[in-house]
Order: sequence, then C-alpha cells, then structure tokens
Amino acid sequence: MSIHPLPPPKAPTGLGRLPVARWFLLIGALAGGAFAAGVVVILALLAQIVALNPRDDVAAQLGRLHAALIVVFAVLFGCGIGLAVILRYAVLKPIEQLGAQVRAVAGGDFDHALHVDRPAELAELSSHVDSMRRRIVLAWRAASDQADELRRSNGELEQFAYVASHDLQEPLRKVASFTQMLEQRYGSQLDERAKQYIHYAVDGAKRMQLLINDLLDFSRVGRVTGDRSVVDSGAALETALENLSATIADAEATVTGGELPEVVGNRLQLTQLFQNLIENALKFRSDEAPVVRVEARRDDGFWEFSCSDNGIGVEPKYADRIFLIFQRLHPRDVYPGTGIGLALCRKIVEYHGGQLWLDGDAEGPGATFRWTLPAAGDDDD
Ligand SMILES: Nc1ncnc2c1ncn2[C@@H]1O[C@H](COP(=O)(O)OP(=O)(O)OP(=O)(O)O)[C@@H](O)[C@H]1O
Ligand SMILES: [Mg+2]
Repeated sequence: MSIHPLPPPKAPTGLGRLPVARWFLLIGALAGGAFAAGVVVILALLAQIVALNPRDDVAAQLGRLHAALIVVFAVLFGCGIGLAVILRYAVLKPIEQLGAQVRAVAGGDFDHALHVDRPAELAELSSHVDSMRRRIVLAWRAASDQADELRRSNGELEQFAYVASHDLQEPLRKVASFTQMLEQRYGSQLDERAKQYIHYAVDGAKRMQLLINDLLDFSRVGRVTGDRSVVDSGAALETALENLSATIADAEATVTGGELPEVVGNRLQLTQLFQNLIENALKFRSDEAPVVRVEARRDDGFWEFSCSDNGIGVEPKYADRIFLIFQRLHPRDVYPGTGIGLALCRKIVEYHGGQLWLDGDAEGPGATFRWTLPAAGDDDD
C-alpha cells in the first residue's frame, strides 16, 4: 500500500497571492520613505528658520529642538530596523522553514519531522501538526500491514481452494466411473435396493463433481488474472447470448440490451458475468415468458449496469444471502444449480473494481441486479 503525494495546493487568488514577506517589504518601504521625507522636510524647515537670524534665545531653543529631533529620528530608525530584523528572523524565516517541511511531507516523505523552535506560537503549531503526522503515519502503516496480511491469507485461501478442487477431481472421477461400472456389469445380479443405492452414490459423486468444478471456476477469478483491456460490453453480451441461444429459444424468452459502453476488463469474465445473470433470469422465471433487459448508465467514473427480469423475484431479506457461495433459496429438484453463479458474478465485478447488488427498490415484478464497472479511459482517476 502506498500513499500518493498530495496534489499541488490551490493557488491563492486576488491580493492573497502576494507572500506576507512582500507585504511587509512594501509597507516597510512606504513607511521608511514617508519617515525619510518627514525628516528631510523638518530639518529643512529648521534650517530655514535658522537662516532668518532669530534672537539668541530662540536660536538656542531651535538648536535644542534640532538635537532632540535627531535623537528621536535615530531612535525611530533603530526601532524600524529592529522590527524588520525581528520579523525576518523570528517570524518569516520559521514560517519558511515550516513551509519547506510541510512541502516535504506533502511530497511523500512521510517520515520528515515538522519542527521549528521559535516563535512560541509556531513552535506549538508545528509540534501539534507533527504529532498528527506521526499518528496518521502509524495508523496508515498498521492498515497497510493488515492489508498485506489479508492479501496474503486471501491468496493462500484461493490457492487452497484451487488445489483442493483440482486435486479432488481425479479421485472423484474414479468413484463416479467405478460405481457406474459396478452398476453396468453387476446390475443384473443386484436387487432393486442395491441398484437404488448405487444410483444415489453415482448421483452424489456427479453432484460433487459439479460443485468442485464450480469451486475451481470461482477460485480462478483473480488468481488467474487474465488480460485486461478495453472491452466492448455490448460484444460481451452478444457472446453470452450466443452461448445461451438454445436456452433462450426453449424458454421463448426476449432478451434486449440497451446501448452498452466500453469498459476496462477481462472479456471472458465479463461474458461469464452476463451469462450467469441472464441464465438466472431465464431459470427463475414466472408463468410468463421471460423478458430480460440489460442496460447501462454513466455514473461519474463508472458505468452502472442493470439486468432486470420478470421472473419470480427475490425477497429483499435474501438480498445478501444469494451472493454467498453455494447458497440457494430453492430445492434442487425445482430449480437446478449449485448456487455459485451469483458468488462468481460478485467476485468478477469486485475483481474489476466495481460492486454488484440486488436492487431491492426496483419497480415491477422479477429481480433487478445492478453492478458498476470502471469506464474505459477513466481507470486512472
Ligand atoms: N433472477 C433471479 N430471480 C429470482 N431469484 C434469483 C435470480 N437470480 C438468483 N436468484 C436466487 O439466488 C440464488 C443464488 O443464485 P446463483 O446464481 O448463485 O445460484 P443458482 O442459479 O441457483 O445456481 P448456479 O448459478 O450455480 O447454477 C438462486 O438459487 C435463486 O434463489
Ligand atoms: Mg445461477
């Protein structure tokens, strides 16, 4: 896990564009100019009065005023210089220092400490911001470690599911075929009950084969990453419909698709997604001929797809359960299946960075499933 450096800050507008140091410089220059002009004018006035040859006592008073004014001007000048030095070294420099440190952190160097010694207000502010930085970095590292751990254990689980389902296929095939051979070869010597037991055994083994194959498909999504490219989802839907053409014809179903966009993804998996959802819409049909509609609409950087049907629908309380692996709401003899289709669909969508859910508020009979996929060209957003 990594944190991207922050984007550059928004540039201030209007008078705020000028750095505070410039403001001080500007106002300081104006004040200094006015002060110098004042000094020159007053001294010139005094010189003019002295040039008029005033009485001796007035001249003495003028001399004292002249000296006092020079002292006052010198003190004021010294104060101005002192203020500028204090401003420069006690305020502007520490602000600059803190700014550089904050820029380093914002640029991605999250271990860069924020610290200035003076003035007291800035020192306090920098210590608060720094403790905030340390806490955020600690929390981020903990979350990052957890995410790594989760990724690792997820990978292990997927690997386990893959190996288990892959390696179980062979012994299971043996059980199924030898039980069938037993039935074929010794069927004539067996009574009805024995035949029935063998039938159950073959049926169980076949069902387990189906479950294991489904599990294998499920564990392949994400593990076998597959190509990702810009995919025309309309073409993926077309392929799914071709694969289902016999089922669609049998059910006398009408499946229509709106204008479907290009998305970033794996073509095979997106076809599988459409196929599973439409297969469900056909399977869980009501008394009427199935009518299925696939649509998409733009939602920020994503496309939101929907697949709605006029079938038996799903009670809202089962909206989460139906996405769990091997969870079904109906007995197998009424609606066949293993219960992996929707779990697989959700895994495919999540692997593509989207979400899949049952729309509990959809109008009309039947079920509406919605899912999001990143739009082509926007995946870096
Ligand atoms: N379009 C739908 N209309 C009504 N119920 C649905 C629909 N889609 C799914 N369901 C319900 O959700 C359950 C889970 O669906 P899912 O596709 O995972 O399994 P399945 O279709 O029963 O088996 P599989 O897909 O493995 O053949 C279904 O058993 C069904 O009860
Ligand atoms: Mg299904």
